[in-house]
Amino acid sequence: MTCPQFHLGWFLGNSYGVHGWLDQWGGGTARNWSDPALHMDLARAIDRACFDFVLLEDSSFVPDNYGSSMDFYLKRASRAPKNDPLPLVPLMLQASKHVGIVPTISTSFYPPYLLARLMATLDLMSDGRVGCNFVTSTANRAAQNFGLNDHIEHHTRYEMADEFVEVVKQLWDSWEEDAIVADAAGQTFVDPCKVRPIEFEGKFFSSRGPLNTARPPQGHPVLVQAGGSPQGRAFASRHMDVVMAAVSTVEEMKSFRDDIRARVAANGRDPDKTKIVFQFVPIVAESDTQAQEILEARRAAKDPAEILAAMGSLFDIDFSVFDLDEPLSEMSTNGQQGTFKRFMSMGRTLREIANSFHFAVDDVAGTPDTVAGKMQEMMEEVGGDGFLIAGNLNRRYIAEITDGLVPALQKRGLVRTGFSNAQFRENLLEF
Ligand SMILES: Cc1cc2nc3c(=O)[nH]c(=O)nc-3n(C[C@H](O)[C@H](O)[C@H](O)COP(=O)(O)O)c2cc1C
Repeated sequence: MTCPQFHLGWFLGNSYGVHGWLDQWGGGTARNWSDPALHMDLARAIDRACFDFVLLEDSSFVPDNYGSSMDFYLKRASRAPKNDPLPLVPLMLQASKHVGIVPTISTSFYPPYLLARLMATLDLMSDGRVGCNFVTSTANRAAQNFGLNDHIEHHTRYEMADEFVEVVKQLWDSWEEDAIVADAAGQTFVDPCKVRPIEFEGKFFSSRGPLNTARPPQGHPVLVQAGGSPQGRAFASRHMDVVMAAVSTVEEMKSFRDDIRARVAANGRDPDKTKIVFQFVPIVAESDTQAQEILEARRAAKDPAEILAAMGSLFDIDFSVFDLDEPLSEMSTNGQQGTFKRFMSMGRTLREIANSFHFAVDDVAGTPDTVAGKMQEMMEEVGGDGFLIAGNLNRRYIAEITDGLVPALQKRGLVRTGFSNAQFRENLLEF
């Protein structure tokens, strides 16, 4: 089978938070974690390397699941402190020419009118280079920061998300493409016939409209989402341009992609227009042996507490109260459902689970050419549509990927060497 050309995205986990303050290659992040220079350097580098987009993850709470306390998280700068990533967007846009910038917005807490206006503004500022990652948010603590006692039930959250996206799309459509005529002779800047209220009255949201800014250059900024549950997948397949998956094997990748494409088609949409990308954490080094040694060292250094604290904050579960080696009893969550199901299926005890759980394809290690070859094999098997690089952020890792791995992929003709279009969605749809 020949390999389709595929897309590259960068998943900036922990977004505008603290990156590698204890790492050998973390630079000065212990001192200057809120200096946006690192993020702008990332934008510059991935733009040069012809990535399609970077996704800025976000959350809005300080976890206190592990040990029923914030201590574990605060001491390790895990999810806090974390700045709002939205102000990074214009900075990253200015540092780049083509790459799409995708901030994250919670459909459970953000007012749809504000989101529609914010994304329209960013799209207008950048001539069509932004997208939005729609998340429903999973933590009770986040819900409590927005005035709820407990978070909204998982399925209801997706019902709301669906309606949220519907309102936002209608607001973007409330101005016709050619509404701005700027006709000096006729003293008319906007043609009033081309701007209309939407009068949206839903179960969760209502908005009169129209938007008080113009239609975004892309019509709708690129819509992005990652949901593993049936409700998440249904939501994705109704609206999204890009769907992201956190799975770790080729079988899981293939089955996820096949399922989303079938759902997209069932919704009367063209599956080739929804791009499915997979979280990928490659290790790239000077030789295959060296890369394998780094991989082994990482495996040996895995701390179950770190994994259980991180995952506990996604499921609202305090895993510290369970014996690591006792078989686990049935549990449920109102947090991330798809991930929880995968997590619990990894073993009988928490130690087994922590040792075998992977949030990404993260066992590929080698020289740039070895890793490029493995990526080619995976895409041949899965059918498309690309990878989301999700390693820990530092300037050395950025260079390994953009100046090591990407040229090896380009040499094989697997990824783009330039951009044919000015806008983010147009580039996504090029292949
Ligand atoms: C690549 C990727 C990026 C994500 N980014 C965020 C994020 O920024 N903020 C957030 O709250 N959840 C984020 N999530 C979680 C998803 O929005 C969703 O909650 C999760 O995949 C579980 O969905 P499910 O309950 O439908 O299975 C991300 C997930 C993936 C795989």
